[in-house]
Amino acid sequence: MRRIPSLDIEVSPVCLGTWAFGGDKWWGKQEDKDSMGVLHGVVERGINFIDTAPVYGRGRSERVIGGFFKKTGLREKIILATKVGLSWEGPRIIHNLSARRMGEEVDESRKRLKTDYLDLYQVHWPDPHTPIGETAEMMYSFYKNGTVKSIGVSNYSVSQMQEFRKYSPLHCLQPEYSMFNRSIEKETVNYCLENNIAIISYAPLYSGLLTGKFFLNGAAVPEDINRKMKSKDLSEPLYSINKTFLLKLDGIASKYGKTLTQLAINWNFSQRGIISSIVGMRNEIQAEENLGSMGWSISDDDKKEIDSLLAQRSEEINSRHLF
Ligand SMILES: NC(=O)c1ccc[n+]([C@@H]2O[C@H](COP(=O)([O-])OP(=O)(O)OC[C@H]3O[C@@H](n4cnc5c(N)ncnc54)[C@H](OP(=O)(O)O)[C@@H]3O)[C@@H](O)[C@H]2O)c1
Repeated sequence: MRRIPSLDIEVSPVCLGTWAFGGDKWWGKQEDKDSMGVLHGVVERGINFIDTAPVYGRGRSERVIGGFFKKTGLREKIILATKVGLSWEGPRIIHNLSARRMGEEVDESRKRLKTDYLDLYQVHWPDPHTPIGETAEMMYSFYKNGTVKSIGVSNYSVSQMQEFRKYSPLHCLQPEYSMFNRSIEKETVNYCLENNIAIISYAPLYSGLLTGKFFLNGAAVPEDINRKMKSKDLSEPLYSINKTFLLKLDGIASKYGKTLTQLAINWNFSQRGIISSIVGMRNEIQAEENLGSMGWSISDDDKKEIDSLLAQRSEEINSRHLF
C-alpha cells in the first residue's frame, strides 16, 4: 500500500480503471456482469482504489459501481475516485466547469455511486470557458463541507496546477503515463514531488497496446475509438518498431516469470513520483493477470535496460519523423 503524501489515505499500487465499464463507442460493448466480476475479483484480492467518471458510458460506469456497493456493503473499504467537468447533451460531450453545473454533478455522482462522500474528486479536463480559480474555489467548497475528502485534477499542466493552487489545496494529479508516453517526466513529476501532489497515472497499458496482444499474439484490433486513436502505432512503419521493442520487453518479463502486461504495470507504479497506476480491465481473466503485477520488483539493471530500449524506439521514430 502507498500513502497519499498530503492525506491520511493509503491506496493499492494498482487502481481499478472503469472507463470500459461504460460500454460505449470509446471501448465497445461491455456486459455489466463482467464489470461486476472484475469489481468482486479485485476487491477480494486487496485492491482498495477505484477510479471512474460520470462521462464513462454517461453514468453507466458509476451506476455499476454503486450497484456493487449496494450489493456488498463494501463502500467504506474503498478509496473511491470520480471526476467532474464533462457533461453530455444528446450525442455531444461538452466541457462545463461552471459552479452551477459542478454543484449538480457532485450530487448526481453521489446518487449513482450510492454514497454520501467521494474520497477523491478530480477535475476531468480543464474547461477553456471557465477560469481555473472559479473551478478551484468550488472544489475547495466541496472539500470544506466534507462532500469530498481530497481534491485532484486530471490532464493539467504545471502552470494550470500553479493557478489552481492559488485558490485551493491540491492533493492528486491524474495524468496519462506509460512506457509509450513519458511526457510528464519533463517537469510535472518534479513539480508534484516538490508540492506533495500524488500522481495517479492513467492508461499504463497505452490502451492495451503494451499487453503485446496486437503485436505478438495475433489479436484483432477492436473497432473502438481508443484503438482508432492509436492507429499510427498499430500500422506500419511504427507497428514493426513497436513489435521489436515488445519482443525484447517480453524477454525481460520472462526472466521474472511474468507477462508483458504485468511488467508494463509494475514498471509504471515503480516510476518516480507514481503512487498508483489506474489500469483498465474488462473481465476476470484480465483482472487476474493484471493483479500479478504487484508484489515483486524490477531490478535497477533491468529498469536501465528498459530505458535504453525505449530510447532506441524513440530515436527510430524521430529519425523517420513518424510523429
Ligand atoms: N483522466 C482521464 O482523462 C483518463 C483518460 C483515460 C483513462 N483514464 C482512467 O484510466 C483507466 C485506465 O486507462 P485505459 O482503460 O484508458 O487504458 P489501459 O489501462 O492502458 O488499457 C486498458 C485496456 O487494455 C486491455 N487490457 C487490460 N488488461 C489486459 C490483459 N491482461 N490482457 C489483455 N488486454 C488487457 C483492455 O481492453 P481490451 O480488452 O478491449 O483490449 C482494457 O480495457 C481508465 O479506465 C480510466 O479510469 C482516465
